Amino acid sequence: MRTGKDIAVIGSNMVDLISYIRRMPREGETLEALDFHMDCGGKGANQAIAASRLGSRVLMLTRVGNDVFAANTVDNFARNGIDTSHVLTTEASSGVAPIFVDEDSRNSILIIKGANGHLSPDDVRDAEDDIASCRLIVLQLEIPLETVYEAITLGRSHGVPVLLNPAPADPDLQLERIRGCDYIVPNETELAMLTGMPTDTLDDIHRAAAVLRETGIPNVIVTLGEQGALWLSDTGERHLPGIPVTARDTTGAGDAFIGCFSHHLVRTGDVERSLELAIRYSADSVTKRGTQASFATAEEFDSVLQDLTD
Ligand code: RIB
Repeated sequence: MRTGKDIAVIGSNMVDLISYIRRMPREGETLEALDFHMDCGGKGANQAIAASRLGSRVLMLTRVGNDVFAANTVDNFARNGIDTSHVLTTEASSGVAPIFVDEDSRNSILIIKGANGHLSPDDVRDAEDDIASCRLIVLQLEIPLETVYEAITLGRSHGVPVLLNPAPADPDLQLERIRGCDYIVPNETELAMLTGMPTDTLDDIHRAAAVLRETGIPNVIVTLGEQGALWLSDTGERHLPGIPVTARDTTGAGDAFIGCFSHHLVRTGDVERSLELAIRYSADSVTKRGTQASFATAEEFDSVLQDLTD
């Protein structure tokens, strides 16, 4: 029987090992970190959790390893109301991400894909009926590219819109194989990688985004951190401003944005309003420490929105 969920997230899960540091150690140096926090992470899982906390019905297709981390990851999905019937197990380590957050709240992330590297095009085909009954497919690049391409093809063949967050930037991503997406949501770094163009200034970003749109993807959305987001579509260009906040930890802010945007897009179809809300949700997440720990529930986000209007 089909699940009929709102959103199918096909992507990664990781265990985030977050060290809060003054500065990165130099080669050969041992430094004491200020603090440590372990959280559930991975771009796919983060986006799924954000959308689910806001009230979307989310299906997650992902692979966990056969280690101590796996059960906690699956429990975390279930606790957050996510359909785990397509969470698969692999004879490998789970995905792990050592993360360093400095005193200016900037992060550096290493990812060890582990089981995520085994999520295959066959896994997508095996879940075809359930994915096809969703209203949006959400993808990122912490799984094999062939799996991403297969999910785009599947979405197209069933008329399910596809959103691709091309993160982390991957030089092997083939533009001609992602043309079937309806939404592409890169940050400046990923946009530079996708187009081979500079993205140092807002003018640069406008130019690069316009070139990306010429590939035929109807909606190009560039996330700009504290500067908000830029949206290009056949209705023109819109720069939606950022929300000034005091950042404590920016880990997962892009995923908070995608999860919130996807949730509101599916509910309303209003891209501009969904972007405004995603900017606010993501800004709220950077005021708190941790990855998924910083993602608000629907009730918490309502009060954030209320505070912003007061
Ligand atoms: O986008 C943030 C995420 O990137 C972290 O949760 C980490 O796991 C990596 O996937």
